[in-house]
Amino acid sequence: MKVAVVGATGMVGEVMLKVLAERNFLITELIPVASERSIGKQVIYKNDPYTIVGMQTAIDMLPDIAIFSAGGGTSLEWAPKFAEVGTTVIDNSSAWRMDPTKKLVVPEINANELTTEDKIIANPNCSTIQMVLALAPLHKQYTMKRVVVSTYQSVSGTGVKAVQQLDNEIAGVKGEMAYPYPINRNALPHCDVFEENGYTKEEMKLAREPQKILNDKTFSVSATAVRIPTAGGHSESVNVEFENDFDLTEVRKLLHETPGIVVQDNPDTNTYPMPIYAHDKDDVFVGRIRRDETQPNTLNMWIVADNLRKGAATNAVQIAEYLVEKQLIKALVS
Ligand SMILES: NC(=O)c1ccc[n+]([C@@H]2O[C@H](COP(=O)([O-])OP(=O)(O)OC[C@H]3O[C@@H](n4cnc5c(N)ncnc54)[C@H](OP(=O)(O)O)[C@@H]3O)[C@@H](O)[C@H]2O)c1
Repeated sequence: MKVAVVGATGMVGEVMLKVLAERNFLITELIPVASERSIGKQVIYKNDPYTIVGMQTAIDMLPDIAIFSAGGGTSLEWAPKFAEVGTTVIDNSSAWRMDPTKKLVVPEINANELTTEDKIIANPNCSTIQMVLALAPLHKQYTMKRVVVSTYQSVSGTGVKAVQQLDNEIAGVKGEMAYPYPINRNALPHCDVFEENGYTKEEMKLAREPQKILNDKTFSVSATAVRIPTAGGHSESVNVEFENDFDLTEVRKLLHETPGIVVQDNPDTNTYPMPIYAHDKDDVFVGRIRRDETQPNTLNMWIVADNLRKGAATNAVQIAEYLVEKQLIKALVS
């Protein structure tokens, strides 16, 4: 596969190169791409240096797959141009997620919807992926009615500028601000921009994307997204009301048997998921599994994952792996 990694100099792009190398994705030619200001710089893939090229140069090289992690505007402008020359685009931005003509894919849940016709495929939001992976097997078994989620999101979810802001604040150095307030020793109930309904865009992604991924509008999600000064991954407190009652042992078993999920749940040994341990792992960790004692058929859980891995790069590479395995890429269609 000739693979373009668009946004190769960014937080997600850097992890993307790492994940592609670790999983030994079949790459015959790697094309790292970033903005005009990075052309000529180098990135490392499998210990070798590769030179960053611009968008048009990458298109002219006719890649089989382009994995975009370069923001919504870049994606809206450039993804169709890659698709036009036959490249399959897997996009990490929010640009195409709710477009009814584009698939929104978490491979463990709905990769089977993909066909050779899908030229732009959307990767869900990081906080959605980890939540929906845990909800999917429970929804199948007990039928969700309503989810209430509060997130505790890492600064790495905002990109390199936000990580720099936190590092500067810890070091006591003045620098560019990615957030409107200090983030060190703080919690900002503000992830992404505010929408007209008073919710942030991140909160509305958590509300809308699970319905599309699970292809079901009969349940609803209410979200509050909060940025905290962690670096390893996003955490979520999730309260789920089901139509049907559940058994906690069966809930743990269902989660344990779900590919990509690791159950870490033992109050006797203080075992529960935390971002410092989820960091650099591909799994989604679930713990604090308990019954909500204030109303029937309702469950509480704590879900943690590395937002740059399963929340972005790993999920995108898993989609690419599925496309190759099922021969859904132009070069492989017989
Ligand atoms: N961080 C996360 O946890 C996460 C999770 C899921 C999805 N995402 C999505 O992934 C995307 C990247 O996020 P990030 O956190 O990696 O951001 P980031 O660290 O700020 O990196 C942005 C990348 O995009 C490139 N870029 C910017 N404008 C471009 C243009 N006009 N043409 C080509 N490349 C351009 C940048 O290149 P230069 O270095 O040349 O500026 C850089 O490589 C965003 O859409 C974000 O919503 C992020």
